[in-house]
Amino acid sequence: MSIENFIWYEKHRPKTVKALSLPPAYSAAFNSYIEEGQIPHILLVGQAGSGKTTIGKIIMDSIPCTRLELNASSKERGIDTVKGMIKDFAASQPRKGELKICFLDEADGLTADALDALKGTMEKYSKNCRFILTANNIDKITPPIRSRCTVFTFDQFSKEKLVVLCNRILSKESITVKSEKDVTAVVEKYYPDVRSTINNMQLACHSGTLELSVLVGLKVDPTKIGEFIKRGIYFPCAPTLPMSPTTLRSTGGYTIHSLLRTEIMNRKVKW
Ligand SMILES: Nc1ncnc2c1ncn2[C@@H]1O[C@H](COP(=O)(O)OP(=O)(O)O)[C@@H](O)[C@H]1O
Ligand SMILES: [Mg+2]
Repeated sequence: MSIENFIWYEKHRPKTVKALSLPPAYSAAFNSYIEEGQIPHILLVGQAGSGKTTIGKIIMDSIPCTRLELNASSKERGIDTVKGMIKDFAASQPRKGELKICFLDEADGLTADALDALKGTMEKYSKNCRFILTANNIDKITPPIRSRCTVFTFDQFSKEKLVVLCNRILSKESITVKSEKDVTAVVEKYYPDVRSTINNMQLACHSGTLELSVLVGLKVDPTKIGEFIKRGIYFPCAPTLPMSPTTLRSTGGYTIHSLLRTEIMNRKVKW
């Protein structure tokens, strides 16, 4: 099974603007970009799981374009990437009738000199190449870049909307829910991170029924997390997981990785 179909937040990632729960003015703006087949440079800002990557992908999938997608929080975050891969892409000739879009996910992870170089590239090649940047923290995006972009700020998803979203996914996955309160409890625990909520809910549904006890069982001693990771991150949770450690390894331990990361962030564990 591909990772997109295995992980619910990928599988149920909205594919159209309409399917995204957005302020009407934002939906109207994104729809008009799609209709015109043109976008300005765009900066999408909001906390984790607020839909930034999703809307970026929807725009790129809906407009005829050649695209370069990079995640700037990974090793592609330095000046070499901007002066190399990004500049080469921006400078190259577009295919006839197509826009070029450079999608820099988590651009707040770019180094200061990379952001500085990016400013020049955005300006010089803006006729042929548009940029979509996402950031959790707008303060890390320098003012010259901000001012070159149309900025969309994603507000927190309301708890009520998240409950509706979770119920929709549970229904599509034919999961038995013993009480509506169980869905609310999952949302309460992981709100406002939509991705984390969906991820943990998936974990709690491995039996085909939403079992809150699975999530309670996941509370591990934070001082042991580093040790658990060294021994194979799924180890402490293996009894409650829907798949064997081997299966998880083949998916890169993606789900459990996110879970542990959430636990670490929540508990501010330094390691
Ligand atoms: N506005 C939204 N409407 C519906 N689903 C959403 C929305 N925002 C996020 N999601 C869900 O949360 C998941 C994570 O969203 P994502 O775009 O990856 O967040 P971000 O990039 O802001 O961290 C998506 O796959 C989707 O299932
Ligand atoms: Mg994202």
